[in-house]
Amino acid sequence: MVCALLATASPWDMSSLAARRILLGITGGIAAYKCCDLLRQLTGAGAEVQVVMTEAATAFVTPLTLQALSGRPVRTALLDPAAEAAMGHIELARWAEVMLIAPASADAIARLAQGQANDLLSTCYLAFDGPKFLAPAMNQAMWRAPATGRNVATLEVDGVTVLGPASGVQACGDEGPGRMVEPNALVSALAAWAGAKAPTTTEPSPWAGRHIVITAGPTREALDPVRYLTNRSSGQQGFALAEAAAEAGAQVTLISGPVTLPTPPGVTRVDVESALDMLAATEAAFDTADLVIAVAAVADYRAGAVAPQKLKREGTEGLTLNLVPNPDIIATLGARRGPGAHPVLVAFAAETENVVAHAEGKRSRKGVDFVVANDVSRADIGFNSADNCVTVVGPAGAEALPKMSKQALSAQLLNRFAAALRP
Ligand code: PMT
Repeated sequence: MVCALLATASPWDMSSLAARRILLGITGGIAAYKCCDLLRQLTGAGAEVQVVMTEAATAFVTPLTLQALSGRPVRTALLDPAAEAAMGHIELARWAEVMLIAPASADAIARLAQGQANDLLSTCYLAFDGPKFLAPAMNQAMWRAPATGRNVATLEVDGVTVLGPASGVQACGDEGPGRMVEPNALVSALAAWAGAKAPTTTEPSPWAGRHIVITAGPTREALDPVRYLTNRSSGQQGFALAEAAAEAGAQVTLISGPVTLPTPPGVTRVDVESALDMLAATEAAFDTADLVIAVAAVADYRAGAVAPQKLKREGTEGLTLNLVPNPDIIATLGARRGPGAHPVLVAFAAETENVVAHAEGKRSRKGVDFVVANDVSRADIGFNSADNCVTVVGPAGAEALPKMSKQALSAQLLNRFAAALRP
């Protein structure tokens, strides 16, 4: 019963899951606790995951926990007027690209095989006509029962891919087949599906023929011939966005401060040093841009006058620097463009407290469409780290995304910005 996707799971690149829309159905069983790890792995790979739970599942793991891990409200009830107004079962089924039910209890398998539609999960299952994966989990005797075998066979005839179950010691003390396949194997199976699907897609990219300008890295503000002011930006977030944009078919101009990263394939790179250099390069690219994303950590101040010779220590009590403000690059573009006009403008915001409130303030002060805010007081995200965890503040309000790699985040951000592209 273990499907080929599990057997060949390991070589798949998890990046294929970036921005994939996955409907994760969770039914009642002790294996439901493994869904926390499953969800963390899926969102960490950049997938967008909407969780739907049966009532029994909520006895094993709380919707609040899964909401925190997925960054989306968990759906449990079929007849929920508030949720129906937002995204009902038909909308959920239309939104999803793939559906995974894990763990799938014997009861859920029986109901799905019969085509019952008596809760939110079973109605989503019936309404969804894309690829469906199911990871059974139950006691070994229940798995071996002829009725379960018939139900599983029916689902397979219907085109469902059954992943597992695995064998081993069970929570009830029995030993045999019925354990849910481990989360990393389920993630690999979905990555295999996503990787296999990618080359066959014929949907036109919204970025084909579009010009995206991205600033990245720090700026360096000279004090004298050998010293400068700078910050800890590595350029990773801006370079990841440039790579994702080029992969999506855009023409990309990457205006970078001093960093040690290689230029992503297909990207035109302009190296700059100071904020004034970055302003000039960004203004030069502005007229042909469809989207400008200001990821760079631009120095807010520069020396009022750069010392022509190396500043000497001898004979001084201390050193007082006279700093003058740098121009705000993205706000300059916001003022030049005017509200809601072409191109779409995006600022990043490095915050340490009241992240959303400060990001909203920056959005209106700088005249941009979106602000992507990250909490730079955290060591595991933001400056000079592989991952990021952001809140996107845009025309529709604030949306908190889970922590994920900067590559995966880039694909998700581009999806959101595409919706704001002007014709
Ligand atoms: O490079 P990494 O190591 O990958 O780190 C990524 C990052 C932490 C640098 C990135 O995620 C980030 O937060 N970038 C914005 C950093 C910043 O300077 O934030 P800010 O809140 O000070 O500025 C807000 C916005 O105004 C930014 O879009 C910035 O580019 C822009 N700005 C700021 C000052 C200035 N003089 N001109 C600007 O255009």
